[in-house]
Amino acid sequence: MYRKALIVSVLVAFVCVQIADSLVCYTCVTPKDCKSPKKVTCTNAAANETSYYLGVYHQNVRNLTSTRFDCLALKYNWNNDVIHQLHGCVHPNVGACSLALKPAYAHYNKTRCLTCSGDKCNKNPAGKMSSSTITIVASVLGLLLVKIYA
Ligand SMILES: *[C@@H]1O[C@H](CO)[C@@H](O)[C@H](O)[C@H]1NC(C)=O
Ligand SMILES: *[C@@H]1O[C@H](CO)[C@@H](O)[C@H](O)[C@H]1NC(C)=O
Ligand SMILES: *[C@@H]1O[C@H](CO)[C@@H](O)[C@H](O)[C@H]1NC(C)=O
Repeated sequence: MYRKALIVSVLVAFVCVQIADSLVCYTCVTPKDCKSPKKVTCTNAAANETSYYLGVYHQNVRNLTSTRFDCLALKYNWNNDVIHQLHGCVHPNVGACSLALKPAYAHYNKTRCLTCSGDKCNKNPAGKMSSSTITIVASVLGLLLVKIYA
């Protein structure tokens, strides 16, 4: 009985750590860059870098440290051209998608902005990757639990 409980806790802890502590996001900072985005494991340093780029166009980007992170995908258009694009790890509390643009950039059209939590979930389109990954993890875990308790 103890053993089962132990196995279950280890599994749960493992899954939680996977989701919370080693989030991987796509990262790129210009439209050109975003044609072949890199991958980055989220850290405060990586999220600070995103904050820095957010701060170029937006007002009141806060300096934060976080214990968990989200992935960001942000795109602005102007006359049908992608004028600004930014993917990366963010501090959830920065509220990346509700930031106001600086007056000089207020004419930009925000065509896409999402934050999501799941490995590489900021790839196109909107977070499909993340939910499917989490679903797979959840079903595997479910199966294991059924096996252990059956
Ligand atoms: C991120 O920014 C915060 C606030 O400016 C700072 O306290 C922290 O040291 C930075 N972290 C890293 C890893 O650069
Ligand atoms: C955040 O930190 C950077 C560099 O450490 C600084 O230039 C900037 O003014 C800070 N922003 C805020 C809102 O405190
Ligand atoms: C911005 O978006 C609005 C609504 O989608 C559109 O009507 C407008 O033409 C766009 N402006 C530019 C400069 O692309």
